[in-house]
Formats: sequence, structure tokens, C-alpha cells
Amino acid sequence: MRKTFPASGQARDEVLNQLRSFKQDDADWSGGRVPLFVFKGSGAAAEISQDAYNIFFTENALGRTRAFPSIQRMEQDIVEMALDLFQAPDEASGFITTGGTESIIQAVQTCRDYERAKRDDPTHRGNIVMAYSGHPAFDKAAGLMDLEVRRVPCGLDYRVDVSALECAIDANTIMLVGSAPCFPYGVFDPIEDLSAVAERHNIWLHVDACVGGYLAPFVRQSGRPIPAFDFSVPGVSSMSADLHKFGFAPKPISTVFYRNPDKAAHHGFEFHDWPNGRFATTTIVGTRAGGAIAGAWALFQHLGRDGYTVIASELMTGIEAYRAEIEGIENLHVLGAPELSIVAVGSNKLDIFRIAEIMQGQGWVPGLLQSPKALHRMMSMLHVPATPQYLADLKEATATVDAESGKGAIISAEY
Ligand SMILES: Cc1ncc(COP(=O)(O)O)c(C=O)c1O
Repeated sequence: MRKTFPASGQARDEVLNQLRSFKQDDADWSGGRVPLFVFKGSGAAAEISQDAYNIFFTENALGRTRAFPSIQRMEQDIVEMALDLFQAPDEASGFITTGGTESIIQAVQTCRDYERAKRDDPTHRGNIVMAYSGHPAFDKAAGLMDLEVRRVPCGLDYRVDVSALECAIDANTIMLVGSAPCFPYGVFDPIEDLSAVAERHNIWLHVDACVGGYLAPFVRQSGRPIPAFDFSVPGVSSMSADLHKFGFAPKPISTVFYRNPDKAAHHGFEFHDWPNGRFATTTIVGTRAGGAIAGAWALFQHLGRDGYTVIASELMTGIEAYRAEIEGIENLHVLGAPELSIVAVGSNKLDIFRIAEIMQGQGWVPGLLQSPKALHRMMSMLHVPATPQYLADLKEATATVDAESGKGAIISAEY
């Protein structure tokens, strides 16, 4: 039966209490039991982010040029500070978007239109070449824009096989993609090698740093090795980096950047031929939350490089301890050598999905990979405190599955 629209209103507290009660059936994200979707840097970061959001709760970023110069200014500041972080040349530019997916769709659209103009072929159907481990946002973009995606295998180290990628290039290839890191395995594709391929063939290289963009520079600053992945690599044409992931900003907010003005010129939408006159946006969506922009701006100011580095260092210390513990559990191993916060755990002997199924029964939302089968966690400071209990339950579930001999799992991998 369809729910009817309320005939009259209920008291505020009654309504808010209902909302709180809705959460009862949700997974315990604040206890670190949700392995993706949610992020935490520190208590202080979460607090200023939320307070900043509330100061700009009502403002709409769609009106930033006509009504809210405050938003315009914050957007410009964020983009400039991020370009500095990503070692971009002076002529580089960037835009705020509502998430990694939108940043990627925008970069693909900009690349497609740049290529169509360059080839003087307004209906050219291009292809994008990337690893099997690349994010489906590229397939979403390609579906929307009638482009082809060619996925090539990863090597034994789970990084894109650069020779396979080069072999998949043809005259219609408009974009190469490298991830920094990829979501499934948490490893960086070799961006410098991809850059050499991109320069050799004169093809646009996009670096998907949605996960790593606002974490990797600070992990590097903490003294840990991070491969070159940003505009310091000469063949990188564009980059996506999510503020609502390891920037710890309120959702939804991300950034997309272009090295060259002639490429960036194809970003954006403008329309005049309707009753209200000029309609120009730099995003796919129209209305956007001012609060998310204020949150990101406040975090950059409040944390600075040093503050982000303290968080990154604490997080990586927790992750290093987690990885060491995993390597100590019989029959389990970490997949590859992830540089940052995503860790996938496989088994050469046991059905890892069955292990996940048992842990699901203990309140852990399973993060799973289907190839190879693995457990998956994208860890922030929500997950580090939960890790001793996670490991205890994992050890117990692993022993149970070892003793069970061959009972098959029912669950399957889902993002
Ligand atoms: C590597 C990578 N790229 C892109 C995205 C898409 O980001 P969003 O969910 O903000 O659209 C994700 C999301 O996890 C990701 O891991």
C-alpha cells in the first residue's frame, strides 16, 4: 500500500525522534563496521566540517556568481590550494563538483569535446583505455556520451599492465586512465609509465585520484614513499580528487583539474535560448550545497598541510599494524602492496566470502572483491579503533572456515 501524504503535521521532537529511530537498522558506521562510504579524519575535523556546513546551510552554489560571492571565493581558494598541493603549473585550472563520479564524467566530457574539436569531427566516437581495476564512473560517463571503454588486465602486482594498455590504443583512443590508487586493490597504477605512453601517442592522460588525492601528499609528507601521480608528471592532462573522501569534507564535494587552458576551455555548459537567458554551469548538476564547499574550505584552513599530515600519519600507523596482523594469520595475505588506506585480503586456501559471511553475522558489513576473491576495507580513522575487534572476529571466522571444510558462501561481491 502506498504511504499517504500527511494530512497534518507532527511535533518537531516527534519527527526528529522518528528520524533517529530510523537509524536503528543501519550498520554501525561510527563503530567502524562499514568498510566504505564513510570517512573520518579526527573529531576536531568532523566538528569544524559540520559547523562550517551549517553556516552555509542555505546558500546554493548555483548562485555563486550572481548572489553568493562568498561561495565563489571559497571555490576559487579551494581550487588554487589544491593546484598547489598537486604541483600544477600556473596555467592549470580546476572546478568543484559534487563527487568523484561527476568529476570523472566532466573530465571525460571535456576530453571528448576537446578531441572532437581537434579532429574537426563533431560526432567522433572515441574510446578510453584503462585497467580492469578502474572505477565504473568511466563506464557511466562512456554510456552517457556514447564512448567505448577498453579495460585491460592488471599485472601480478595489481597495477595496470602498461604494455597491454599500450596495445589497446588505436586511432580513436581519446583518453588513458591511471588510478592513484584504484579502488579494488588500493595500489597506484604506474603514472610515470602511463605518462610516457600518453606522450608517445599524444593522448590525454587522466589520473583518478578520487581516493588518494587528498591523502597521498600528506602520507608522503609523513615520510612514507608515494609514487609520483600528480601534475609533477608531465603527461598528466587532468586529475580528479574527492574532498568528501580523505579531504574529510561534508558530502557531496570533489574536484577536477586540467593542466592546459586549451583543454579546460571545453569544461562547462552554457545555454541562452530559453526564457531566462544565459544559463551557465561548471557542473552537470544545477543546484549544489553551499555547505559542502564551506566545509572543505574550513578544513583546508583549520588543518593545513601539518594537520592533514598528522591525521595521515596516524591513519597509516594503524593500517601498517593491521597489515602486519593480517600477514600473521595463517591462510590470509594482503593483495599486492597498497600505498594508502585500501587493503584487500585474500586466501589461497579458504573461501574468503564464507569468512565474510560469518563476520557479517557479527555486524561487519562485508567489503568484497570478486577477482580475486578478497575482503576489502577502505580505512579511515573510523576503522583504526575498530581494528582489534575486526581482527579478533576475522581470526575466529578464518579458523571456523578452515574447520568447516568446503561449506560454500551465499553472498556475492557488491560495491
Ligand atoms: C578510485 C575511485 N574513483 C571514483 C570514485 C567515485 O566517487 P563518488 O562515489 O564520490 O562518485 C570512487 C569511489 O569510491 C573511487 O574509489
